Amino acid sequence: MKSKYADLKLNVDINKIKEASICIKKGKIVLFPTETVYGIGANALEKKAVDKIFKAKGRASDNPLIVHICNLEMLNSLVEEVGEIEKKLINKFWPGPLTIIFNRKECVPNNVTAGLNTVGIRMPSNKIANKLIELANLPIAAPSANISGRPSGTKIEDIIEELDGKVDYILDSGMVDIGVESTVIRVIKNKVHILRPGKITVQDIEDLGINVIIEKQIMEECSSKEKVMSPGMKYRHYAPNTKCLLVYSEDENKMIEEINKQIENIGNVLVLGRTSHLDKYNTNNKLDMGESLEDISKNIFTLLRKVDKYKVSLVIIEGVKKEGLGLAIMNRLIRACEHNYIEIN
Ligand code: TXA
Ligand code: MG
Repeated sequence: MKSKYADLKLNVDINKIKEASICIKKGKIVLFPTETVYGIGANALEKKAVDKIFKAKGRASDNPLIVHICNLEMLNSLVEEVGEIEKKLINKFWPGPLTIIFNRKECVPNNVTAGLNTVGIRMPSNKIANKLIELANLPIAAPSANISGRPSGTKIEDIIEELDGKVDYILDSGMVDIGVESTVIRVIKNKVHILRPGKITVQDIEDLGINVIIEKQIMEECSSKEKVMSPGMKYRHYAPNTKCLLVYSEDENKMIEEINKQIENIGNVLVLGRTSHLDKYNTNNKLDMGESLEDISKNIFTLLRKVDKYKVSLVIIEGVKKEGLGLAIMNRLIRACEHNYIEIN
């Protein structure tokens, strides 16, 4: 292990979080858990420290970072104004997996926001993340922990190879809770626009009496020149090297039939399916996605990281209904499959 490492899986040693917080204060970068995925964090107010994150990830400089905070004082120090709808969302969902885009203040360095006049902010509910921010007493800019283009890290074992030595400190608390990144939203003319779906769902927001618009680019392919509301939408993301195909039908028998047809035609395939469907597939190469949407959300990035080891011609992935947490799962899967998608009515 080239990076400094602390194992907090069984016992959360506050002294280790303190050491990591000193790294943040000194302008170094720290790999830490959140409730969604692991992040690579730096002092959000120090341009040079933030540069180290872009370098470690190989991230495009036009893709802005989310700033993580632990109290509303920090929020007010970073953003121009907090509107009524944003206040409602904050009251209901913070701390938690919701990132809100605000107009930023001058103190937020240009590289954090990729030159935009807005900044994405979230208050994580993970106790270690929270403590790290509190002890550093600084807002922490952090993208997901992975080399750009790769699936986000949900446990250290998955990302250690690609990130060891590139970060100064690693806080390991085992498997994260949610497994897909936060919901990213922006309020425009009293409506919430979903820029990236996540654990906080359309329904969760509508339940507050707020109108929600799902940006169409969430499920569509967009060219790198297209104007998008969130730069992250236009990047290749999560895709394994092996070609992947996403298959979905509301009628699960039709979905299973279509997947078996593909298996028969292609032969050398790997199937990622729900636990209860696995024995219906005519192949020995299968990976279990779990049964509930919560299971699938937790497992999906680890599974996507495994598929290349199988040396198959095609990976076939079962889709889920684009509803609730299913919208977030399908958004990640459709990107992993590079829009190679069959939906049967
Ligand atoms: O759950 C999460 O959000 C994780 C954990 C570590 O907090 N972080 C994360 O960060 O997923 P990242 O950098 O992998 O994704 C941030 C997304 C990108 O799609 C980016 O384009 C978008 O948020 N974003 C950030 N700032 C934005 C802004 N000012 N306007 C529009 N989109 C923004
Ligand atoms: Mg990411």
